[in-house]
Order: sequence, then C-alpha cells, then structure tokens
Amino acid sequence: MEKLTMTDADYGALAKVMRKVEFFAPLTLGQLEQIIPYIMLCRYRSGETVFKKGEKGDAFYIVKEGSVSIRMPKMVFFSKTVATLGPGGFFGEMALLSSDPRSATVVSEADTSLFVLLSADFSFVLKQNPAFATEMKKLAERRKFMSRSQER
Ligand code: CMP
Repeated sequence: MEKLTMTDADYGALAKVMRKVEFFAPLTLGQLEQIIPYIMLCRYRSGETVFKKGEKGDAFYIVKEGSVSIRMPKMVFFSKTVATLGPGGFFGEMALLSSDPRSATVVSEADTSLFVLLSADFSFVLKQNPAFATEMKKLAERRKFMSRSQER
C-alpha cells in the first residue's frame, strides 16, 4: 500500500465521488468541507490485501479507481468472493459500526485507489446525520445477512 499526496485534482475527484456515494449524500457542503481534509488516498497493487477477516477495524474505504473483492476465507489457501466493488463502492462500515472484527477479507483486484476515512472521522459523519446512521446500520445488517448465507 502506498499513501499518496492528494492533489487538487484528487480533491476535485473526491468531491465528485462524495456527491454520488450514498454515504455522503445527506451531508451539507459545510459538513463535507469539515471531513475532506481528513480523507487519505491510498493505492493498492493488483492482488494486494487491504485487510483480513478478523482484524480490528480502524477505517472506512471508498473505491476511487479500480476494484476490490470481498472474500470469505474458507481454508488456508481458499476463499469465496461474496461481492466485488468498483468506483463509488464502499466497505469497512461493519466493523466500525459494531466494534466486531472485520467480517471479510478485502483484496485489490486491479491497481486500485481508495479514499480512506479513519474511524473517528467516520463516527463524526454518522453523528452529524442520525437518520443516515440508521440507514448505514441497515445496510451493514443486509451485508452481514448476505455474507452469512453465502458462507455455507
Ligand atoms: P467490515 O466487516 O468492516 O470488513 C469487511 C467488509 O466487507 C464489511 O465491513 C463490509 O463493508 C463488506 N462486506 C461484507 N459482506 C459484504 C457483502 N455481502 N456485500 C458487500 N460488501 C460486504
């Protein structure tokens, strides 16, 4: 993983993505401006692991470019892909909402750039939007259910 310095173009892309991503849609421009400085941009090579199932969650991720697979490890060398997320897709909310460990392993499927929001800033966004926090929790429940049903 390589942490990139955000350029003006990246901030522009971020503002555009944030307008499209449902997670950020309810925020006002002022609220967006408050969190944008805290968002990092990280690049992952194809095949690189972003994090593994069972690890502690410390960040929320949004795909800027490329794609990631959400995988359920089966045996030492095998895993089952339960979802693939492309630009605008987001992941990592479940561990942050529940304080449970990461529920799946996430692997970069191409050269991928991810916007990374640390846990404290993720909580800030949710605190600003109680109604949206409820929606996020519902989505996490749905994902949990889908992954469980595919785990077998
Ligand atoms: P978290 O448990 O923090 O880490 C793994 C992430 O994978 C999880 O949060 C979700 O964001 C994501 N995830 C888990 N299951 C699914 C699924 N079925 N579809 C899409 N994303 C998922």
